[in-house]
Amino acid sequence: MSATQDDNAAQREYWNGKAGENWAREAERLDGMLAPFITAVLGAAGLEGGERVLDVGCGSGALSLAALRAGAGQVTGVDVSAPMLALGRQRADGETQVQFVEADASKWQADQSFDRLISRFGVMFFADPQAAFSNLHAQMTPGGRLAFACWQPLDQNEWALLPLRAALSLTDQRLDRPEPGAPGPFAFEDPDRTVSILERAGWKSAEAKPWVGQIALPGESVSEAAAFATKMGPTARLIAELEMDANRVRETVEARLAEKASADGRVRLDAAAWIVTADV
Ligand SMILES: C[S@@+](CC[C@H](N)C(=O)[O-])C[C@H]1O[C@@H](n2cnc3c(N)ncnc32)[C@H](O)[C@@H]1O
Repeated sequence: MSATQDDNAAQREYWNGKAGENWAREAERLDGMLAPFITAVLGAAGLEGGERVLDVGCGSGALSLAALRAGAGQVTGVDVSAPMLALGRQRADGETQVQFVEADASKWQADQSFDRLISRFGVMFFADPQAAFSNLHAQMTPGGRLAFACWQPLDQNEWALLPLRAALSLTDQRLDRPEPGAPGPFAFEDPDRTVSILERAGWKSAEAKPWVGQIALPGESVSEAAAFATKMGPTARLIAELEMDANRVRETVEARLAEKASADGRVRLDAAAWIVTADV
């Protein structure tokens, strides 16, 4: 299949490889770190009870299951990652009101329509976001609504930047910022671009509100936090790309995180996201 026929192939490969397996293995701890965004997304989605909800890039299903507990009538999680979906199904534990579908959300055609589209950091990986959001818009009922969380720029996200800088201090490389808008965690860092993509895709009244706070890296100690920060996310990607000595990076990251640790040993770092909403 050519790149133009399947532009999300690289993401599918990434989330079905080591990254997806790590996300599934670390799901409980990741969900602890990202719990504030479940509250933020569900609050913005304005569930009233009984809605049919689509969770895009649902991963291991934490937001899908939280939506069900918050009163959704039925939830469908869609994702490209087989290992993460497998955990989602296991967590659903036979609950019939939630289903997990393995598909590329940018092209997937549902056999029903949805009243709410929600996502926790699952919509920033599309090669053609306007086409993806246009396809998703077509799956919605009139009067429907979208609410998702996406990251603000890397510079506002110390949880990602600090370990990256520590790792890079071991090299002669500078921080290689992704091309603006390129698929990845920071693809929707610019809220004006996000709003414009949504509106060109047919969504109305799109807006992005800032979420700014601190998130606790998983782990009861600095060394556990450093192990996590080097195994997951942007620093893990850097270690793999530059074929770095992971143990040496972990030690260096641990030294930097120690400067930030609270008396209880937990490491809380600044984080900034956008909570984006739009109407059908
Ligand atoms: C950062 S993870 C977030 C997972 C989950 N929403 C959570 O908060 O735990 C991004 C997710 O987007 C999924 N994803 C990436 N591209 C996708 C696509 N084209 N269609 C559906 N899911 C996709 C990945 O497989 C991954 O599960």
